[in-house]
Amino acid sequence: MSDFKRIIIANWKMKLGFDESVELVEEMEEQFRDFRDREVVLCPDFLSLPAAKVRLTESGLKLGAQDSFWEEQGSYTGEISPLNLKEIGCNYVIVGHSERRKNLMEDYHIINKKVKAALNNKLTPIMCIGEKLEEKEEGKREEVLEEQLRQGLKGVELHDKYLIVAYEPIWAIGSGKTITDEDIEEVYGLLDSVLKDIFPDNHEGIFTIYGGSVNSQNVSGFKKEQIDGLLVGGASLQAEEFLKISQQMLKNDE
Ligand code: PGA
Repeated sequence: MSDFKRIIIANWKMKLGFDESVELVEEMEEQFRDFRDREVVLCPDFLSLPAAKVRLTESGLKLGAQDSFWEEQGSYTGEISPLNLKEIGCNYVIVGHSERRKNLMEDYHIINKKVKAALNNKLTPIMCIGEKLEEKEEGKREEVLEEQLRQGLKGVELHDKYLIVAYEPIWAIGSGKTITDEDIEEVYGLLDSVLKDIFPDNHEGIFTIYGGSVNSQNVSGFKKEQIDGLLVGGASLQAEEFLKISQQMLKNDE
């Protein structure tokens, strides 16, 4: 079903001012001219999205939001509607990033509603999961990840839409630490079997990607059959570095 094999997503978090975001979009637009038929997504902050949209003309870079609310319209002061995100040209939305789970107490009940609202509004959700360091050390990783998947995707129907699950171990985000080959085998094997159980007839449009301290020096370690793409934070804040990561990860993909 999918017309791309791998996807690369830049998460700029709240790290840039408006002018800086616009400048970076312009640089990316220039540098990613050869990526028209590849799936590379920029997620600037909300305020920069409309300005980013008008600057992305030739490169084929897509836009994503870093969050969205679970309702489309109404008395929800301060929230951002998935309907409006679609209207201004977003195709993707990150849902349940661990920084939101930690700082805004988002749980998988909320995340589940956001995943459904995104799909209903033709936005592809990028649902984040990942264990804390102590959960890993206590041998609870599999249990935690399975629970996050089952709660986050409860009652979700895909109907030929895409779903992206980003495995982002909390201990790997912004820390310089990354997962080992052994972790990859274990975690992606688990994700595959749980996702097949949740969506027995609809596996084609599901991508399982990785995020956490990816950069151009370590990206080759993530170019594995099981990993369908990357969610890149810090290393996506420089166009050249993000280009190197994208080139290496997407090389030879048709
Ligand atoms: P990082 O962030 O690449 O800076 O570790 C990844 C993320 O939080 O999505």
